[in-house]
Amino acid sequence: MKKVFLFIIAASLTVGAFAQKFDGLALTPPMGWNSWNTFAVHIDEKLVMATADQLVSSGMKDAGYIYLVLDDAWMAKERDANGNLVPDPIKFPHGMKAVADYVHSKGLKFGLYNCAGTKTCAGYPGTRGYEYQDARFYASIGIDYLKFDWCNTEGINAKEAYTTMSKAIKTAGRPVIFSLCEWGSNKPWEWAAPVGHLWRTTTDITARFDNVTHNKGWNPFSTMHIVDEQKDLRKYAGPGHWNDPDMLEVGNGMTQGEDRAHFSMWCMLAAPLIAGNDLRKMTPQTQAILTNKGAVSVDQDSLGIEGYKYAEKDSLETWVKPLKKGVAICFLNRSSKAQPIDFNWKDHPLTDDLSKMSIDFTTSTYKVFDIWNNKEAGNTKKAFTQTVQPHDVVMLKLYQ
Ligand code: GLA
Repeated sequence: MKKVFLFIIAASLTVGAFAQKFDGLALTPPMGWNSWNTFAVHIDEKLVMATADQLVSSGMKDAGYIYLVLDDAWMAKERDANGNLVPDPIKFPHGMKAVADYVHSKGLKFGLYNCAGTKTCAGYPGTRGYEYQDARFYASIGIDYLKFDWCNTEGINAKEAYTTMSKAIKTAGRPVIFSLCEWGSNKPWEWAAPVGHLWRTTTDITARFDNVTHNKGWNPFSTMHIVDEQKDLRKYAGPGHWNDPDMLEVGNGMTQGEDRAHFSMWCMLAAPLIAGNDLRKMTPQTQAILTNKGAVSVDQDSLGIEGYKYAEKDSLETWVKPLKKGVAICFLNRSSKAQPIDFNWKDHPLTDDLSKMSIDFTTSTYKVFDIWNNKEAGNTKKAFTQTVQPHDVVMLKLYQ
């Protein structure tokens, strides 16, 4: 009896030593807000406090956006004499624990950013060589989310570097969502599921709909270009480990239809929904997109299966996302003219090997809910007809 008991203890210690990330933290794609897309390096404690207040008062928190994450440039330019990270004393005069405490007092969770390299992308102290020390600092101030970038990493191996940080977080003992941000350069989808909870799949997003900007050197991607880049990645994502097509640009300058299309596609892709707009100036239209219950429920569906492109004609794409109960359909119009949809369900049996979904509308009938018009739209006995505006979507949820 005693031997069996000792064996169980030894076995669990061994498993504990090898276990990497904290399990059970992101069973649906994480939702929150991050400072980078709007504020870049111009962040401070007043912004954090105002954003936390807005997350609550705008209904974003109730819609699921609970992680408030500060991106690059929260630190002073140098570590202290003991090698500890130091929050910028001008931007954060009360220190980072006070900021974390304020965010937590609103019922939200708090996240920070650092980088696997010697310096962050904006030139602040990177974590290379300080993994365990930094993880202890994060645990001491009470962070819940760490975004870990990939600048200034010449000569290091991504899988090893991210695994080391993941183990450091685990050892520090505070459950933290670990967000890998190496832009898909090292195919993290092939190795990162035991290491982190989400991994970026591409370079940075920009608030453009469908055409790639051509800057000299570094090029951010448009929202639809990022959608194209997700091809073949859906089999790697699932509860606890998500493909991350980058943070949202809703409210950052595209048209309302484009914002709706971008948001709908992120939901169809079971993407993390990390808002990147200035919540203090959010319009009612932007708020309505980000908090749309039907769209968010498609993203947060517990089956955790990404959607796939079912058909494409004249830049009108039909996307299908299997749900725990039912299925979501999104008609995405990437063209610059309005396009009619005439979708006779009976001609479209839907099968998906990954989720084992198999729906034959000749033998089963589903009710149709039109997500953006927020209304019931009959059932699948009758063809669905509607017009999709240019750079916009029609998104449906089918249920029984
Ligand atoms: C990289 C990341 C961005 C952002 C910046 C910060 O470009 O991909 O999301 O974190 O660094 O410098």
